[in-house]
Amino acid sequence: MDQTTKPEAKKVMLSGIQPSGDLTLGSYLGAIKNWSERAEEFDCYYFMADLHSITVRQVPADLRRRTIEQLAGYIACGLDPEKNTLFIQSHVPAHAQLGWVLDCYTMFGELSRMTQFKDKSRKNAENINAGLFTYPALMAADILLYQPDYVPVGEDQKQHVEICRDVAERFNGIYGDVFKIPEPYIPKVGARVMSLSTPTNKMSKSDTDPNGCVYMMDAPEVIARKFKKAVTDSDTERCVRYAPEEKPGVSNLMSIYAACTGKDFAAIEAEFDGLGYGAFKPAVGDAVIETLRPIREEAQRLIKDKAYLESVYRAGAEKASYIAEKTLRKVYKKVGFVAR
Ligand code: TRP
Repeated sequence: MDQTTKPEAKKVMLSGIQPSGDLTLGSYLGAIKNWSERAEEFDCYYFMADLHSITVRQVPADLRRRTIEQLAGYIACGLDPEKNTLFIQSHVPAHAQLGWVLDCYTMFGELSRMTQFKDKSRKNAENINAGLFTYPALMAADILLYQPDYVPVGEDQKQHVEICRDVAERFNGIYGDVFKIPEPYIPKVGARVMSLSTPTNKMSKSDTDPNGCVYMMDAPEVIARKFKKAVTDSDTERCVRYAPEEKPGVSNLMSIYAACTGKDFAAIEAEFDGLGYGAFKPAVGDAVIETLRPIREEAQRLIKDKAYLESVYRAGAEKASYIAEKTLRKVYKKVGFVAR
């Protein structure tokens, strides 16, 4: 590998997040919270996957706002733009360019088997567009451009990292070692936060029940109300005890409380022994309010500082482009395009 791209020889990590919904408590506790510490060990790239977002129809003004708010949200959560490369996918044309090349090395049959495609086609039956179908080829391009060692993703995205590996191996099989084969990286730490209203489902920014999901930018009163309404379980013991199978509602609240306070389950059970759900739910709400308060305030401050955010995404795009274009040039040469 070309050492000039990685002067510190740190392992490279890359992940993309679609700005198709506002960041949630689940995104924070489950993922972003752990990112800030990674910057020391890895060379990290995070981008707003706006190209991917338009596979589902978006309101243009909302997409633009969310892309910027997401960037502000990441920085507010502790992702230091000096130590991580933060950029907007559409600012680096190499993504779309390599995406096209990889479309030609990704098979119809492979794409047809992707569970996300099947799911999204069911949900958007009126708009099953070609981009939705070839989404994994673009995602493979996102990844392979940066030759990362690891791609941190949730369980639901593992299949996409696998198809990326398959496509990369196919390409390397024809043209020699062009792409590094990345590994999915499913972090061990990080709470899996479930919906407050349907605790058997993951907390999702597209939850149809507005009480199920806590957004990172929710005002304290809104958070308090959502936790007061949180579904607990219809068991008879009415006590705070961790039992995800029997008591998914209470157990979810316990995980959230544990993640926000650093207390373990035994300590939480002891704290609320004999107090019942009536005392527990507002306590979880308060812990979440205090956890999110500094993040929300910092994000609000950053959103007003347009010039700063602009400087961050410009610098990010410049750094990302430098690496991405190098890989793209190599690919173009390998497949037989004439150099300009
Ligand atoms: N598909 C990912 C998601 O929906 C987003 C994404 C796009 C991504 N490109 C990526 C994730 C590259 C990791 C690497 O969550």
